[in-house]
Amino acid sequence: MRKLNIAIIGLGNIGSYLYKYLNENKKILTEKNNCIPIVKYISAKKRNKKRSINFNKKQWLNNYLEATYLSDVDLIIELIGGAEGAAKKLVFNALKNKKHVVTANKALIAKYGDQLAKIAEKNKVNLEFEASVCGGLPIIRSLKEGLIANKISKIYGIFNGTSNYILSSMDKKNKNFDEVLTDAKNLGYAEANPSADLNGDDVSSKLKILTSLCFNSFLNDKIYVEGIKEIDKTDIINANKLGYKIKLIGFSELLKNKICQRVHPTLIKNNSYIASIDGVLNAVIIDGKPVGQSIIQGEGAGPAATTSALVSDISSISRGNIKFPFSLSTKERKKLKFDSIDNRFFSAYLRFEVFDKPGVLSNITNIFSKNKVSIKRLIQNPNKNKKISSIVIITHNSKNNSLNKILKEVTKKKYIFKKPKLIRIDEN
Ligand SMILES: NC(=O)c1ccc[n+]([C@@H]2O[C@H](COP(=O)([O-])OP(=O)(O)OC[C@H]3O[C@@H](n4cnc5c(N)ncnc54)[C@H](OP(=O)(O)O)[C@@H]3O)[C@@H](O)[C@H]2O)c1
Repeated sequence: MRKLNIAIIGLGNIGSYLYKYLNENKKILTEKNNCIPIVKYISAKKRNKKRSINFNKKQWLNNYLEATYLSDVDLIIELIGGAEGAAKKLVFNALKNKKHVVTANKALIAKYGDQLAKIAEKNKVNLEFEASVCGGLPIIRSLKEGLIANKISKIYGIFNGTSNYILSSMDKKNKNFDEVLTDAKNLGYAEANPSADLNGDDVSSKLKILTSLCFNSFLNDKIYVEGIKEIDKTDIINANKLGYKIKLIGFSELLKNKICQRVHPTLIKNNSYIASIDGVLNAVIIDGKPVGQSIIQGEGAGPAATTSALVSDISSISRGNIKFPFSLSTKERKKLKFDSIDNRFFSAYLRFEVFDKPGVLSNITNIFSKNKVSIKRLIQNPNKNKKISSIVIITHNSKNNSLNKILKEVTKKKYIFKKPKLIRIDEN
């Protein structure tokens, strides 16, 4: 029987769960893959830290980099995290020394994936990263294998459970952003420092990886990223009244041979599929030919879901499937052009909080017509006692650049007392 000797480096939330899973499921994995998975070595930062796993002292590597040159290691599983430092050193060295690598590290793959893929390809070893995008959802393997026949035109979805939990709880519980963030931290859905989840960076890394796989392109940093920090209860209530929900969505699409990648809060129709994805769930929607639309939904994070993805990668390697990390060899991947969001058209929701004075509304609508943006709907909610008013405008399809110009010009007006809002609408 063949054997796969494994070193797990990083024994935090994910690494410890994976270690236990592999020990408890060795028999069934051996039967399914016709190969015995053996966790030969483990390592993390602090040797003396109390851990929830039982292991033999001989398994522990004092220097985690030893795993990259020990002859009885076939596969290194990197579960440290971060694009730089220890994780980067480990993965580059492992591939250079002809070790297979499995990682859950989206930051590392989004930044160095092209360079790493080149080394893996040259040395004929695997670099697998199913767990780096949307935890347990088998999106990467689906793109590389199950959907291989298809020409993909668009991929989009909810790729971050923390921000989705916050937006859907603000909606359902009628609470404001800070209250819901505190709940999310208490429930373990948000990290102590949740900035990458809230500012869109986490979705951005995942979307860059998906873009490369969908369009056979190289990783590209041209991406518009806006998080959810500016969304408040008023926007959620207004969206509901207008028949929409607000979700943080990542979009990547190919139009006229140019790719546009964008991450931003989006108003989506109440009755759309994606509006029903609540809490920490993730969902990915793929438009391809000839298959049509495919949807994958499930747990996007957490040790159990992430381990499911890691074991899928380990099994692929156990079966001897040496593949190009991004589906195609570096030579065959395309240098496609990436377009700016500014050239794209959206209908949009804009909210202006103004001092209620004569002429304000006409001044705002004039700025819209000057920028050739036509108004589909306008709702004014005056507060007579405070002499203020909230103006909500829904536009027809308009160039992103023109919408931003309006926002910039109106923001400078003396009648504005709060930073105006612009949220793009997706009518699909
Ligand atoms: N958590 C999730 O739900 C989730 C989902 C999908 C993907 N991921 C990805 O999975 C990876 C691991 O996440 P996690 O949540 O398990 O992180 P974590 O709980 O913070 O664990 C990180 C581990 O890395 C070790 N480590 C840190 N610096 C090190 C160094 N210089 N040398 C050696 N080991 C070092 C730590 O050692 P000590 O134990 O000694 O401190 C710890 O065991 C990340 O890339 C993350 O993005 C996580």
